[in-house]
This record gives sequence, structure tokens and C-alpha cells, in this order.
Amino acid sequence: MSKRCHLIVVGFDEIVLNKYLGLVDDAIKEGVIDGFSIVDLEKEREEVEKHLARALIRPEKTYYLQTPDLLHETEQMLEFDDIAQVIQSRHGEIKVYIATEVSYHERYLKYCVEHGISCLVEKPVFLPQKDGKYCPEVMVERMNYYVEQAEKNNCHVSVMTLGRCHEIYADVVYQMIKEKMQKYEAPLTSFHIKHAGGVCNLHREYLTREDHPYRYGYGMLMHGGYHYVDLLARFLLLNKMIYPKKQFEVAFASYAAYPTDQNDRIPKPISERFDDNCPDWWKTEGKGIDWGETDITSTFALRDKETKRVITLGTIAMEQTTPSVRTWTDFPDQLYNKNGRVSNLDMEIQLSTLFAASVKCYKIPRDDGKFVEHVPVKPHIITRANPKLLPDEEYEVKKVYPEVYNSTSNKRIMTRWLRDEETVSTLREHMPVVKLMQGIAFSLEKQGESVVVDLCGP
Ligand SMILES: NC(=O)c1ccc[n+]([C@@H]2O[C@H](COP(=O)([O-])OP(=O)(O)OC[C@H]3O[C@@H](n4cnc5c(N)ncnc54)[C@H](O)[C@@H]3O)[C@@H](O)[C@H]2O)c1
Repeated sequence: MSKRCHLIVVGFDEIVLNKYLGLVDDAIKEGVIDGFSIVDLEKEREEVEKHLARALIRPEKTYYLQTPDLLHETEQMLEFDDIAQVIQSRHGEIKVYIATEVSYHERYLKYCVEHGISCLVEKPVFLPQKDGKYCPEVMVERMNYYVEQAEKNNCHVSVMTLGRCHEIYADVVYQMIKEKMQKYEAPLTSFHIKHAGGVCNLHREYLTREDHPYRYGYGMLMHGGYHYVDLLARFLLLNKMIYPKKQFEVAFASYAAYPTDQNDRIPKPISERFDDNCPDWWKTEGKGIDWGETDITSTFALRDKETKRVITLGTIAMEQTTPSVRTWTDFPDQLYNKNGRVSNLDMEIQLSTLFAASVKCYKIPRDDGKFVEHVPVKPHIITRANPKLLPDEEYEVKKVYPEVYNSTSNKRIMTRWLRDEETVSTLREHMPVVKLMQGIAFSLEKQGESVVVDLCGP
């Protein structure tokens, strides 16, 4: 059990309000924490106060950072340091949940690991930036530093991500594949993962949105993509059970579509309905901007680093231009899911000539007025095997699982981290994920060419 301490929530948006405040309340009631405080931005005071008016529990205090220009990291962190010290002097130990927009994760993560403060950081850990610009080159090196600092300064650092504690992806699929691999001594020979994000953005929104932006050089990979790269890393590393002495490398080749491709990918009657048919946008307003990707497909090969023999082949697709539930032209107030996101995930996993699993998890909105975030996922799994060789298996097993909520997985991470009991999503566990993220980011810079990532080395 953790020592009693005070929680600081950095970034108090609707997700924190709706998903996590009940868990914070439970932790207070259990005596795990003695309360919580909020740190957010002065310019967002009105929004934060609106959320607080609907909150189940009140923070001890809400601090608003005054630093006007968020590029001024040093000034902002001096302000945060003052707040952290005041809270520490009043409460002793503190813990920090970093839930800001992705560009600002890194400054808080760095502060926490250097000061020995346990923290929980939202995916994608941090957005790699240099001089305020997206820079995947610095990703692995900086992640190494943060992992080392966290371990040296003895703080529990975990990452909030979808797949590691998910009732289907982790409890059912990952466990099943791990058990079959151990039982049949079978390597993972192919892994295909395909996420359809169901996102509908309009051209003008690409030029104006600050949350989930695409105009700063990064896109899908650094938004929702992290969850699927995380699943990829976890499954690929299961091969370590079969080949514990081998060092692995992964070669990627990728293609992507961008906001400048969008007009030709949306049917004209739909573009016109949204007042968004802009055939020349790519060479007018959309020109000269370093766009982040909306859709990515990558092919990869996991190889023995020394011999270059291939063990796993596969693909990862992270596509947003897939069916969404958007019907509105202008963003409604009070709606987190502004672009009508509704997801579908497919995984196809093969264990050599012996066993295969095909997984489909998708959301169907209900007509009960609830936002699509609050609808459950329908999980279907089909497995196939060679029962003549494997007497415990059947040729096919089709199973529809009870519906699950994706939020349960995040809530498990939060609950465990608050109690210092989180072990599957630690910063160190995310090191290989960050390496694969960097590999895919590099392969997007050289589309169609192969880029190699060292998965197991330092
Ligand atoms: N794990 C998941 O399933 C999941 C799902 C959705 C979003 N996320 C993550 O949650 C985070 C928040 O995403 P969002 O799109 O809601 O962001 P957002 O733009 O709504 O920002 C969240 C809050 O942080 C505050 N904030 C921004 N910069 C700050 C700073 N420098 N210091 C203090 N507060 C600051 C904002 O005012 C806001 O209240 C992101 O990291 C995103 O990737 C995770």
C-alpha cells in the first residue's frame, strides 16, 4: 500500500471529470490520498470552473498558471515548482497525474522524474519537440533519460493507455496468445492490427483546432496511434519467451494520407452537406503547411538482429478516414467527441502453422442520446487451429464476448497507480513502444522505404 499523499491533477478537462473523479473519491475515502488539487491554465479558467460546477468532489484548491506564452517552458515550470512546493509543505508527499494537451506532457514528466515525484502520464508519453517543433529524432534518447531518472529517484511512473489492462485485448487476447505460445512453443509469426478511428474533420478545422491538431507536423500517430503501437509492441515481445537469447529488430515501410488528400477521399454529396467541398484547398489554404498524417499504413518484419532471419511479418494501419457518426457542421458546445469519432479495431494473429486468432472490437452508438465515448465495445473473436496436431484445440471457435467499456482499462491503471500497485504500464515497459513509434515516425519521413528499429537494445 502506498503512503498517504496528495494528488495534483495537471489539466482538468471533461475526461478527467467524467472518467476519473469517482476513482479519486474512492482513493480519498480509502485513505490512499488525502485529497487533490488542480493545476490548469489561466486562459482556461472559465472552462475549468464549468467542469468543477459538475464535479462529484471538490479539489482542495485550483491553481491557474499565469504564464501567457506556453512556449516559455522555463517560466511555466518555475510557476509549477512554486505550487508543488506549497502543496508539498502542506501535505508531505505528492503524486501528479499529467493530463494536459500532449505538447505539454514532457515538461511535467521531466519535472516529476527529476524531483522523484510519482506520476501518471497520458499517452503518447510525450510529444517529441525541439525548439517548439515536432522532432521524432529526440524521442528514444529522451525517453531513456526519463526512465533512468525515474528509477534513480525511485518514483512510480506509469503511462495511461488503452490496451494494457483492457478486458479483451489484455485479459482475453494477450493472455490466450501468451498461453498458446508457451504451450506449443510457437513463435508469433504474423500480427496484423488495423484501427479505424472513424474521425470526420472538415478542412477549415485543420487550420483552426488546437486540440488534436494536424498543422504542426504530427497527426494520427501522436494522437490515438499510440494505443495500437503499444499493442503491437506487447505482442511482438511475446517472441522473447520462445527466443530469449535473440535480439530483435523491426523494419518498417509506411505510407500515409494527409489533410491535403482529403477532398478526393470524401464523397461530394457529403462534402457539400458539410459545406466542405474544397477541391483546390491543397494548393491554396492548405499549401505550405507541414501537415501531420490522418491515415497511416505500415508493413513490418521482426527479425533476429544478428542473422536477419524473419520471425514475424505484419501490418499496422491507423486510419481516421473511416465511418464516423458526425452529422453536424459546426462543433457543438460541451461535446468532447467533436469530430464524431467511433472506433473499430481488428487484429489477426497467427502462431505459425498451428493457431490463429481473429479479433474484432467495435462501437455502435445507441439512439439514447449518449455520446459515443460512453457506448460499449462489442468484442468478437474467432480462433482456428490444427486439431489433428493439437488435440486440445478445435478447428474453429467463434465467440461473441459480453460488451466492455474501453474506459474500464484506463480506470484500472488509475486505480492501481494511485495505490503504487501499477506494474504493467510503467515507463520502462513503454520503452519498446517509444522505439516503434520513432521507427514509424521515421518511416513516414521516407515513405515506401525501409527503416530499421532496434527493439531490444538500450
Ligand atoms: N488514454 C486515453 O484513452 C485518452 C483518450 C483521450 C485523450 N487522451 C489524452 O489526454 C490528454 C488530454 O487531451 P485533450 O485533447 O483532452 O487535451 P486538452 O487540450 O483538452 O487539454 C486538457 C487540459 O489541460 C489543460 N492544459 C493544457 N496545457 C496545459 C499546461 N501547459 N499546463 C497545465 N494545464 C494545461 C487544458 O487547459 C485542459 O483543461 C492528451 O494527452 C490525450 O492524448 C487519452
